[in-house]
Formats: sequence, structure tokens, C-alpha cells
Amino acid sequence: MTPNKWSRRKFLGTLAAASLAGCGIPSPERAGALLTSRLPLPEPFTVALPIPRAATPGPDGTYELVQRPAQVEIIPGTRTGIWGYDGRFPGPTFDVRRGRPIRVRIVNTLPVPTSTHLHGGVTPAPFDGYPTHLVVPQQLSGSFQQHHHGRLTPHEFTHEYPLDQPAATLWYHDHRMDFTAPQVYRGLAGMFLLRDDIEEALPLPRGEHEIPLLICDRAFDEDGSFRYPSKDSTLLGEPGVMGAYHQGVEGDVILVNGAPWPQLEVAAVRYRLRILNACNARRLGLRLDPPPPSGAAFTLIGSDAGLLAAPRPVDDLLLAGAERADVILDFSAYPPGTRVVLHNFLGTGYTRDVMRFVITRRSDDDSAIPAKLTDDFRTLTRAEAVRERRFDFRLSGPGPHGKMWMVNGQPFDPGTALATPRLGTTELWTLTSDFHHPIHLHLAHFQVLSRNGRAPRPSDAGWKDTVDVRPYEVVQVLACFEGFRGRYVTHCHNLEHEDMAMMANFDVV
Ligand code: C2O
Ligand code: CU
Ligand code: CU
Repeated sequence: MTPNKWSRRKFLGTLAAASLAGCGIPSPERAGALLTSRLPLPEPFTVALPIPRAATPGPDGTYELVQRPAQVEIIPGTRTGIWGYDGRFPGPTFDVRRGRPIRVRIVNTLPVPTSTHLHGGVTPAPFDGYPTHLVVPQQLSGSFQQHHHGRLTPHEFTHEYPLDQPAATLWYHDHRMDFTAPQVYRGLAGMFLLRDDIEEALPLPRGEHEIPLLICDRAFDEDGSFRYPSKDSTLLGEPGVMGAYHQGVEGDVILVNGAPWPQLEVAAVRYRLRILNACNARRLGLRLDPPPPSGAAFTLIGSDAGLLAAPRPVDDLLLAGAERADVILDFSAYPPGTRVVLHNFLGTGYTRDVMRFVITRRSDDDSAIPAKLTDDFRTLTRAEAVRERRFDFRLSGPGPHGKMWMVNGQPFDPGTALATPRLGTTELWTLTSDFHHPIHLHLAHFQVLSRNGRAPRPSDAGWKDTVDVRPYEVVQVLACFEGFRGRYVTHCHNLEHEDMAMMANFDVV
């Protein structure tokens, strides 16, 4: 660390402490335990923001992703061993259209089994990436079969995605039972942009002015490798993490599209950012520093599962793990030359910064933010719910399983379903918690009806698949079970909690 950087950080740290004391916030909203790096951290805003390359189908129309280890440069001057889709972290970005089903073949050449899930996808159960639907690498399949009870498939599997759902910012990631957290941490995640006619007819920024931002946190060892507190570094034997990390692992380095605190040169025009919180545990509170001289910092146009009915100006974005925000930033509000930091007000020290935009030039802008985004948006009402269910997310035990993160007092059991919603119906689910638990439903999209008996907050808007439930909150959602019958999961998207059993099946019947 350069002395220069150290003093800057100390100064920011003092400021942060002062402002926390000033407004009486008792503690930062930390959703995990901090894991620190053992190498000097890079100077922020020195690496250019990488844009992951596009996924392209092969000659037979099938997309193929080969999961493989690779060595990449993340911290300048060091090498990090990753596990990536096509050896990349993040994996290639899909850019696909509603009504054009695709096939994605996953070829696993890693030393561990995997399961690949399209998060937010309305996908038939056999292709959804169920946690025990494993793609077992060939060299392992003999010995591994004797130890595992899940359904086994050969070393490749082809998912069929119907993509009959509205345009949205989806993502894909590993979902192997008990080992999702370490396997996503090693790099198995990528963006998946789904478009449709409604969205494409809007005059939104596009091309080089539309940018996916996959934000995650990691910690690094002296040699540049990822640090992660797994109990078993082979990821074949004992699952779980050590000690306090059962709360969740928060790294001290913020990566955007795989680069530490990157910088992006932008024109003084509108940009559309597809922001994903891909952290294992960390929650993000995003603001612009400085804020624009006039107008709101962000115009929210979509959340997890699609466009909002109308744009909504907001000054900050709160994103728990797996949540997405589709936003417009208007850099023409700033004089050229301005440097604008995307700031994380839930972070401390180094993690208070995410990335920086530098407005380098003026340019024409033919984009606009229409007053109405879609006619397709329907606000659900409580009266539509045919049934109510409660799900309590809590650290339970000690019991036969020791202390574990559980749903309604039960650890995940692939053989049992906690609910059997009917296809084509809407249900009211009440979610309660003892800690920060971002709750995710596969298949079913939902709208947040209430938060602690009051109106939902702005970042709960729209069609969602994940909702941020904070300690002792009561969050009610109206979930639509549409698409397919079959067994799906609901789980906490704090990936360490998910691996420690905070997951339950529901059967759509
Ligand atoms: Cu993003 Cu079940 O996962
Ligand atoms: Cu999912
Ligand atoms: Cu949780």
C-alpha cells in the first residue's frame, strides 16, 4: 500500500466514523464477516472497466460454455486461479430475445461437480439447475457417485431455456448443493440480458451506452489467489465455512466485471447500467459522489424480473445479494472532466468505493427516458392471493444438525417440499428473519406487498425474484406461480446461508 493511499483511507475512515456517529446509526448494515486480503490492495480507479465478451451460439445453434480453471490478472501484477464459464470471470454475457428459446450446453472440466442455474429464468424444472442435479466431471464420476445421493448426469448437460418471459436483467451462476458459495466465489457467474419487443421499442441508451455491471467482493492471498474460509479446500468433502464466516463471507476488494475498483470513461450522455449484486453476502447501498447538480442520481427503469411501469428517480439503490437494478445515469448533468464515484454507503474503508466514471467528452444523445415504459405491468393485489404461507428464515439449533440456517426450523432436504402452490395461482408469502436474508424464489416472480406492515421501499419496486429481508423484518410478497409444474427451490441468497441449509423445496402442482 502506498503511503499516499493509506492516509487517504484513514481520512475517509475518520469521516465515515464521524458521519455514523452524527446521524446515530447504531452499526453498519453488515450481512457477513469481513475477510481481509493478504496483499497490498491496488490503487482504486486505475484499471479500466472490462466488458465481458458476448456469448455466441455454435454452428448448431446451441450455446456451449466450458467450465474450466484459468489464470487471470485481477490484482495488477498477480495471477488469480479462477473457475470460469469458458475460463472467464465473469462468464460471457448472453444477449437474447423473448420467444426465441435457446439451448445452453454446460461442459464441466472442473475438479468438482456443478449445477448451473439461470437466476430469474422461468425454466422447466429439469433445466433449472436444481442443487443436486449435478454435472459430474468425467475423471470424478466413478468415485464421486459412491458418495453422493443426487441425480447424476454425465460431464455435460444441455439446458433448454424457453425464455417466454418479459425482458429483464437475469444472471447465471453455479448452484451445487452445499458448495454454491465457494464455487461462485471462484468465478462461476455471468450476466444474461433478455430483451423483448416492448423494451426494444423504447428509446433507451444502447450499444456502447448500455453496460452490465456485475459487482462482487473478494479477498486475496499474498500470491494473488482468492482467499476463502472453506472447511475443506478440495470442495469434495466437508461443506461449510469456518467460524464466524457462517454469517457470510465479505471480501475487502470490490470487483466490477472482475476488475478491482475500475474506471470507465464516459461521454456526457445517458447510459443504461444493468447493475447486479453478485456478492456472496455483502449488501450494497449505491450513490453517486458527487451527486448530479440537478435531478436524481439514478432513474430506475427495471428491477429483477422486468421493466417498471414508469421510470422512478432515486438517489440511492439498495441491493442485497442477487438483486438487480436496471438504471439510467445521465452524465450530461455534470460538466465534462468530472469524476463521479459510484459509492457504497453500506461499506466501510475500502469497500465504500465501487468504481469511478470520468466524463471525458461531449456527445450527441438520441436516447430518452419515456414517461411510460410498458403497458404490460400489472400491479398485483392482495385479493388475488388464493392462499397465505409463512416462511421463517432463522439460525436454528442446536439439534441433530447442530446450528444451521434453516427455513421454518428445517434444514434443506431435497426429498421434502414445504409448499405445493398451484400452477397459475398467486399466493401471499410472509417472510420473517433473524438476520439479513435476501430471499429468492426460483421460477415464480413476485411483487413486494408490504415491509413491516408499511409500504415497500423504492428498491422493492416492480417484478422481483429476490427480496432483501433484514433482521426481524416481516416482508410480504405476492408470488405468481406461472410457467411450469415441478419441484423448485426458495432459499436465502446469502450463499453461505444457502450452503448451510437455508433452502426449501416448493412443488408447483
Ligand atoms: Cu441465484 Cu437459487 O439462485
Ligand atoms: Cu434463482
Ligand atoms: Cu440468509
